[in-house]
Amino acid sequence: MRPDLQELSAYYAAAPGDIALGDIDVARIPAHVSIIMDGNGRWAAKRGLDRARGHVAGVDALREAVTAGVRLGFDVLSAYAFSTENWRRPKLEVDLLMSLFAKTLVAELPLFHQENVRLLFLGDLKALPSETYRVFMRGLDETADHDGMTFALAVNYGSRAEIVHAAHELARLVRSGEIDPDDIDQDLFSAHLYTAGLPDPDLLIRTSGELRLSNYLLYQLAYTEFHATDTLWPDFTRWDMLRAIRAFQSRSRRFGGV
Ligand code: FPP
Repeated sequence: MRPDLQELSAYYAAAPGDIALGDIDVARIPAHVSIIMDGNGRWAAKRGLDRARGHVAGVDALREAVTAGVRLGFDVLSAYAFSTENWRRPKLEVDLLMSLFAKTLVAELPLFHQENVRLLFLGDLKALPSETYRVFMRGLDETADHDGMTFALAVNYGSRAEIVHAAHELARLVRSGEIDPDDIDQDLFSAHLYTAGLPDPDLLIRTSGELRLSNYLLYQLAYTEFHATDTLWPDFTRWDMLRAIRAFQSRSRRFGGV
């Protein structure tokens, strides 16, 4: 999507010194930016707060990332909020996250309407608490006609589970005679992933200095540029987004060619 340059300049007016809007080429903004939001717990611990406060601060950072994505003209912003492995956290923290997801979704719906953002979810939502599930469905429904940026939130998402799920679906289609095994190519396979219809990410950002994929979009990240920053997720701002895009634009993407 083409950014509105006037709005974008106003949004990025008060530059901090090491980075400014002029440092990036607004004609080459990545279409799909994906984020592994990490470091909420450490952000809270550094301040002597409990982990819950870190997650609450993480919501503010996510709101800023969505707004920055809209201003910059992303087609898609995706973010990893809860993995299939995160159920292993203490029940109290899992419960808190599930209710925070639901509360945040309701609170942010006006922003999604105002900014014409379409909401999607990646992951197995059936396993979520009923209230969280209900609110997510409402979010999907209410934003389905928006044709601005797509915001895809990965919740109860695991890439291996996603790939196995796609294999099951395709196997069923073969068994019912709807497709032939030879019909299965990369396009058909992609169409059975949770990300069906979305372009692969151009840029993956991971915060808090960790250098792992953590079972996130393993199939879709084949040619994605990776940007790791030490910034903890709650401290991630519109300027960090600009820094990540500057790093992305300094790379030469060859997709296996020369
Ligand atoms: C990582 O911090 C973050 C998460 C577990 C994801 C939760 C994300 C948010 C609450 C952001 C807002 C999202 C929504 C949709 C409301 P961590 O707990 O792994 O931090 P640590 O590695 O420092 O312990």
